Amino acid sequence: TSTPTSTNSPVATVTTAIVNIASLVTNDPSLGDGTPLGLIQDAAVVIDGDRIVWVGESSKAPATDNRVDAEGRAVIPGFVDSHSHLVFAGDRTQEFNARMSGRSYTAGGIRTTVAATRAASDEELEANLLRYLDEALRQGTTTFETKSGYGLTTHDEARALRIAARHTDEVTYLGAHIVSPDYADDPAAYVELVTGDMLDACAPHARWVDVFCEKGAFDGDQARAILTAGKAKGLHPRVHANQLGYGPGVQLAVELDAASADHCTHLTQEDVDALANSRTVATLLPGAEFSTRAEWPDARRLLDAGVTVALSTDCNPGSSFTSSMPFCVALAVRDMRMTPDEAVWSATAGGAAALRRTDIGRVGPGARADLALLDAPSHVHLAYRPGVPLVTEVWRRGERIAR
Ligand code: NIG
Ligand code: FE
Repeated sequence: TSTPTSTNSPVATVTTAIVNIASLVTNDPSLGDGTPLGLIQDAAVVIDGDRIVWVGESSKAPATDNRVDAEGRAVIPGFVDSHSHLVFAGDRTQEFNARMSGRSYTAGGIRTTVAATRAASDEELEANLLRYLDEALRQGTTTFETKSGYGLTTHDEARALRIAARHTDEVTYLGAHIVSPDYADDPAAYVELVTGDMLDACAPHARWVDVFCEKGAFDGDQARAILTAGKAKGLHPRVHANQLGYGPGVQLAVELDAASADHCTHLTQEDVDALANSRTVATLLPGAEFSTRAEWPDARRLLDAGVTVALSTDCNPGSSFTSSMPFCVALAVRDMRMTPDEAVWSATAGGAAALRRTDIGRVGPGARADLALLDAPSHVHLAYRPGVPLVTEVWRRGERIAR
């Protein structure tokens, strides 16, 4: 006999309470101590299926199917890594070695990865992506954005996005990473491809359109044409802006209401003012400055001006080969003069803002059940104890993942 099913009864979900949390970061000032982190001491979180349904004092937690004892450790929202480049093959160890012996970073190395990526099979690219995703997940990343940009042909860009879209909703078309080596003599024709046939093939698989607006990549006018064409196809802009030098990227991002201007290392006062008067998030990527021995972005200046700041890994084989959000938090605190509270906010709520999402990056009723349990009494330890694997357990969409 088959089990009768009723279309009217709700799907039975399992409820779980995580209790005895010494310190819980909610990112909701109305829930906690009134600071932006919305800290609750001696807290509990109740998960129902893939959602959070209750947050409060541990002693008041409602009865649930399961109970997990946090044993006086800290819980934060899962990290939101809003900027990565994970569809690629090969690595660039030699280039890194050369840099660490004094060579400087140029985006020219991107061509090495383009050649390796084009030569790789779909299976290799997906296996590579999964390896870095798993690495990131074990370090507390529960949402990630990732980009194409190492194919630079219609076929290779579209397949990168298809592969990425199997693993995240936050997929970005970056056909305009650099001018394809095949078009070195005719950059205008490449821009035509990126805004034409390549865009048509890629738009169905992506949510965002990005461009590397920088000397040696795409200038302001080219970047505007690329982002505007993407917008017309339903993609929303985000911009690689002002990484290697001053330029029009940040102003363009604000002009086009981009969700985020990423890197923001070289900023004029006008750039800072433009960001402060916009919805565009400044996404800082300290792994890139670390791995290229470049000057740090001035996070303090942005925060003091009222700009919303996100922190992300930029994970890619050239400029920042780390998948670790805790590492980026530690760098941001030590070298970009963010407070530990600000850095943890930027790595969670800030990333959500950079993806224009309200269901992630916070711990409260209705939010997605994405959490990281730290083997530490507070989130401050992420910066205080750099390099230590403090993330001990992760819940993603309510599913408990042991590290
Ligand atoms: O965000 N700046 C452009 N793109 C990447 C680096 C890509 C590479 O070097 O492979 C970045 O840093
Ligand atoms: Fe990047």
